[in-house]
Amino acid sequence: MSSPRKILVAVAWPYAAGPRHIGHVAGFGVPSDIFARYHRLRGDDVLMVSGTDEHGTPVMVAADAEGRLPRETADRYSELIRSDLRALGLSYDLFTRTTTRNHARVTRDVFRTLYEKGFLVEQTQLGAFSPTTGHTLPDRYIEGTCPICGFPDARGDQCDNCGNLLDPVDLIEPRSRIDGATPEFRETKHLFLDLPAFAGRLHEWIERQRHWRPNVRNFSLRYVEELRPRAVTRDLDWGVRVPVPGYEEDENKRIYVWIDAVVGYLSAAVEWAHVRGEPEAWREWWQNPEARHYYFMGKDNIVFHTVIWPAELLGYGEGGELGGGRSLELPHNVVASEFLTLEGRQFSTSRDWAIWVGDFLDRYDPDPLRYYLTAAGPEQQDADFTWSEFVRRNNDELLANWGNLVNRTLTIAHRHFGRVPEPEELREEDEALLDTIASGFETVGAAIENARFKAALAEAMRLSSEVNQYLNDQAPWALVESDRGRAATVLNVCLRCVDDLKTIFTPFLPFTSQTVHELLGHEGHVAGPLEFRDVDEDGEVHTVLTGDYASWVGRWAPGELPTGQELREPRPLYAKLDKGVVEEELARMTAA
Ligand code: MF3
Ligand code: ZN
Repeated sequence: MSSPRKILVAVAWPYAAGPRHIGHVAGFGVPSDIFARYHRLRGDDVLMVSGTDEHGTPVMVAADAEGRLPRETADRYSELIRSDLRALGLSYDLFTRTTTRNHARVTRDVFRTLYEKGFLVEQTQLGAFSPTTGHTLPDRYIEGTCPICGFPDARGDQCDNCGNLLDPVDLIEPRSRIDGATPEFRETKHLFLDLPAFAGRLHEWIERQRHWRPNVRNFSLRYVEELRPRAVTRDLDWGVRVPVPGYEEDENKRIYVWIDAVVGYLSAAVEWAHVRGEPEAWREWWQNPEARHYYFMGKDNIVFHTVIWPAELLGYGEGGELGGGRSLELPHNVVASEFLTLEGRQFSTSRDWAIWVGDFLDRYDPDPLRYYLTAAGPEQQDADFTWSEFVRRNNDELLANWGNLVNRTLTIAHRHFGRVPEPEELREEDEALLDTIASGFETVGAAIENARFKAALAEAMRLSSEVNQYLNDQAPWALVESDRGRAATVLNVCLRCVDDLKTIFTPFLPFTSQTVHELLGHEGHVAGPLEFRDVDEDGEVHTVLTGDYASWVGRWAPGELPTGQELREPRPLYAKLDKGVVEEELARMTAA
């Protein structure tokens, strides 16, 4: 293994427009956390950042529907999402918000720099206005038929069917989502990002990214073949103000939400450094060619991360106040997941077909959910969540394999020895098993590094089966009567394997790995707890999710389990779920 690397784990920012459902966290949340936890255990310097995406029409639509101000809606869901993500154990170094002063400052610096370098050009555009109210109709308020694929319910900004970014004027038979009226298109001035100016560099750069998932690379390559300038301001009064003369003064012009949201990856790193009291520390990730940046998201976010954000970064170049004459790193990998469906149907907030993360975690533990979303999630193809499959995976895989191994090993060892027993000389099969488990650090680690989380978890489960098999073959429960010395040896080997597997499972199952760690009599946090912290920006306070990950005692390598270490009273890691759960949950969903 090589020396510590600087790893930026950049996780898509959930909209503060409602609670998040398990499909959302399957896409951006769990995969990014597996990756970050693994790299921290491996000794790399990880910076994992994100926050709630609070500007623009998604939040305005939600606020309208709730009869609240956008600010109130954003506050409410930001808090809710933050606590859901914490409960799921997503170990952000900083999970912040796009409504902070810091974010506005960094976004405006990026935007102003792009403008000064001539990458933002003014164009008069046809803007959509509601014939009913006379107000501007933001892209997302408009629906119509996609001009590219013919999908009848495309949104003004993007088609959910083919994934292409759209302009509302191009929609066939556009209609307002609010009242179905046909929008009026009137002239309005906007700044456009000159994407064609970056086409050559983007194409050449994406072409070289052969380590990306093929769908991400192919989709992006096709996309850059036909780049058009893209409007980066909006006629809204909710968002970051436009730092350009003629726009700055206008109460109704704001930066397009997607342009400010992606800047969040940079602004959150800056905020993290500030909170840490080392205001320049973000540069070690952002201005260091050795650093590697990994982005995690659902597939509908791809072009913003492979084209729009890289164009902003290239355009910013060595200019800008913050950059101080040094350029910013481009993504190393853009890890996009496919979609999760629920009982065979698309998640739908409006039709109330969803399982909210908070509701789920009120009734079930986080690790079984993390397990499901990794083992059966939409990593490289669309996947379905069903309650019966959740119950089955929990009972017949997680509990029956890993849970049972821990429980059996600890129960016998605790009952007959109370502590880690002293082994006699190891036999060949003992050494072989220890070697097999030790090699898991390589195999599971390599799979995680390649963003193959499903395969990594399957390998960890295979290792757990091997130890179960050994336990069955050696039958220490019989040996304690016939050959206590051999029983001690077998249990010592099993306990060491469990100790190592606990580490190997930590990225996937952090809560139960911590339990195993404690049951084995260890102290400290194998991959410790998360916390909220208040950040004060000249009197304006916001809360962030963070944690003291430097104090983690876990290391991605076979551990030391001292002979004689006292074991704690074992308890089961996973609750067996009754088959009745399936009907109960399905009834709850259809009643809603
Ligand atoms: N809020 C967007 C979504 O939920 C994701 C934004 S990712 C960002 O689809 F980086 F742009 F913030
Ligand atoms: Zn389409």
